[in-house]
Amino acid sequence: MANFDVRVLDPGVIVETVTTHIVGSIDERLDNASICNVALSGGTTPKAVYEALGRNTTTEWSRVVFWEVDERAVPEDSPRSNAQMIRKALTPLLDQGAKFYPFFGEGDLDAAAEGYAELLEGALVGTPPRFDVVLLGIGDDGHTASLFPGDGTIALADEPMTRAVPAVPAQGREARLTLSATTILAARELLLLATGASKAPALARLFADEGREEETPSRLLRRARGPVVVYLDVAAGGRA
Ligand code: 6PG
Repeated sequence: MANFDVRVLDPGVIVETVTTHIVGSIDERLDNASICNVALSGGTTPKAVYEALGRNTTTEWSRVVFWEVDERAVPEDSPRSNAQMIRKALTPLLDQGAKFYPFFGEGDLDAAAEGYAELLEGALVGTPPRFDVVLLGIGDDGHTASLFPGDGTIALADEPMTRAVPAVPAQGREARLTLSATTILAARELLLLATGASKAPALARLFADEGREEETPSRLLRRARGPVVVYLDVAAGGRA
């Protein structure tokens, strides 16, 4: 089972601490490899971290490739687009030569998921192909990436690298594209960032000895081979 390295921080320092951690991981990887591949979650929580990354000038950004953990099936000019949020925040790094490959969240989503998997297979090394760093979030319902409770998106042993997730209009959720659990778990380094009291019950279910991935998909992280570093603010970490 995963070794969770839980770090509960004051809200005043969490953004800077997570940003420093990610930059450190990238620099370490670039000491041993020509390229560092980083997968970024969407949602609202990581935005400030991405903006802080965007201000960093110490790393060789031209050797860094950013990918998405998941995307909503909306055009990039939609305020719901994770790609829009990530691209805006990272623009200074893209100007320095970093690359960003978002999921293409329009049209035939199964084809889009397969197309992204092909891109990843060409870019990542290892069997299965491995990201160097994956930054995840967690939803109030315990989902991570776009692996939601009750929709059967948790791993099968032979699942593909990416998958399309159908819309659930009753929950106001559009269709999604997501890295699969298999791809997430293959990463060299897994980070989870969560802030705010609304996340505390889902985190308690993630850390509980008993529970099912189908109900709390973030529990897939318990299958990670290496440590999972979990950054929480005090409000989210109250019950960790
Ligand atoms: C997304 C995500 C998702 C996110 C959680 C938490 O596109 O929604 O990538 O998995 O990490 O839903 O989202 P918040 O940070 O908005 O709470």
